[in-house]
Amino acid sequence: MKNLVRMKILIVDDDPVVKELIKNMLAKDGYRNIQTAGSGEEALKMMQKALPDLVVLDIQLPGMKGYDVSQKMRANKSTADIPILMMTGEVLDADKELEKSFRSGVTDFITKPIKKIEFTARVKAALTIKRNYNLMKKELNKRKLSKKIIKKKVWLNVLPGDIWIKVQRGKTVWNALQNTEIELDGDCGGLGKCGKCKIRVITPLGRPSKETLELLEPKELEQGVRLACRTKILKNLAIYTEELNGETEFFQILKHGHMPPVELDPLVERRLVTIPPPSLENSLSDVHRIRDELSPEFQDLKTTYRCLSNLYKNLRTTNFDGAAVIHNNCLLEWQSRESIGGVFGLIFDLGTSTLVGKLVNLLEGQEVAVISRFNSQRKYGSDVISRIQYIKGHPKHLVHLQKLLVSDLNLITKRLVESFKLKLKDIMVAVAAGNTTMQHFMLSLDPSGIAEAPFTPLITEGMT
Ligand code: FES
Repeated sequence: MKNLVRMKILIVDDDPVVKELIKNMLAKDGYRNIQTAGSGEEALKMMQKALPDLVVLDIQLPGMKGYDVSQKMRANKSTADIPILMMTGEVLDADKELEKSFRSGVTDFITKPIKKIEFTARVKAALTIKRNYNLMKKELNKRKLSKKIIKKKVWLNVLPGDIWIKVQRGKTVWNALQNTEIELDGDCGGLGKCGKCKIRVITPLGRPSKETLELLEPKELEQGVRLACRTKILKNLAIYTEELNGETEFFQILKHGHMPPVELDPLVERRLVTIPPPSLENSLSDVHRIRDELSPEFQDLKTTYRCLSNLYKNLRTTNFDGAAVIHNNCLLEWQSRESIGGVFGLIFDLGTSTLVGKLVNLLEGQEVAVISRFNSQRKYGSDVISRIQYIKGHPKHLVHLQKLLVSDLNLITKRLVESFKLKLKDIMVAVAAGNTTMQHFMLSLDPSGIAEAPFTPLITEGMT
């Protein structure tokens, strides 16, 4: 009630006696912000200057009727939400007038002659609704505003590569650079504990965070060095980071060295075969006829779908005289006899910090190109235990780590294939090996068991 009495009430009636009577009733109840108007037109004009919280409106007004005023108020955005208490009296066509009033959007009715107890109760109810409505509107506006602020995007400029990234305001630099080619050091997965994710902020600096103050030297702070995982991007920000992208991390590792004599047993073999073309006498399937021409050990030879999808064309363009590329009792491809390429495989060494990819000529067992790069998972911890902590209880984090690994392997593959001017289809098989945790990450299997007693992995053997 304390707040209600301060709310603004506009009484609209052409009868000065009624206006005075109502004013007195309200004043006795403590209402002190009361205005009056003698006609609908005057009331609407007054509302253009200041909005009331309640309009007490007579139905029978000279000129505009009460329901006309109500209709106009509802049609106007600024007055549409103001409650209207309509005063009705004995009129000739009472029902019709009431119906019009209902349709025009009045909130409540009271019949003349007005009884104080009923009138003040209705005024109080209407003002309470209006007050609650105002509060709700204020709250909604606040939320909309904060949503707008949160949604607002700002620019992050990363130097010296002059890379521009549009990010959501409030994100940390660390988070903004995730899923980009720009890599930052960091063993704690962005928890503000290792002090390794250093960047230099070039635009005006805010106060360093508590962790930044603890982990960085005063001299570094003076030079604008900050921790990426503790630096929020609140407005357009320019930073300098040395490590620009993964490309710089590619390097060739030892290609020629001492190789002890070993007898090679290549995984893939290439057999020269001539098979009879199909005929009325021999209408066996193409695969059957290949099996028949190979030695008896291949009588249950399988094929891959990829091989089958090209087999019809390949057999006919080679005139049924070509080379069958076989791996593990499976026909991988039918090639022309002269074909020199197309029998390559990939070997990946999944190290915790470095990933190595080798392109191998499967017929000769020779490594033909080797490339390595840092493991992009490093930013979630330099050791596997930190990475397990990172994914613990967060299935999405596990998927993210696997995606990082696969994307690293794809980059290595692309570079290897390009370096030897091959096509992806020339790669027949790929093998990846790593420590148990890395194997789990590769297969997107939860390795949490490795980090807690009795330290059991999900799997230790290989998978094909
Ligand atoms: S302190 Fe930022 S990643 Fe460790």
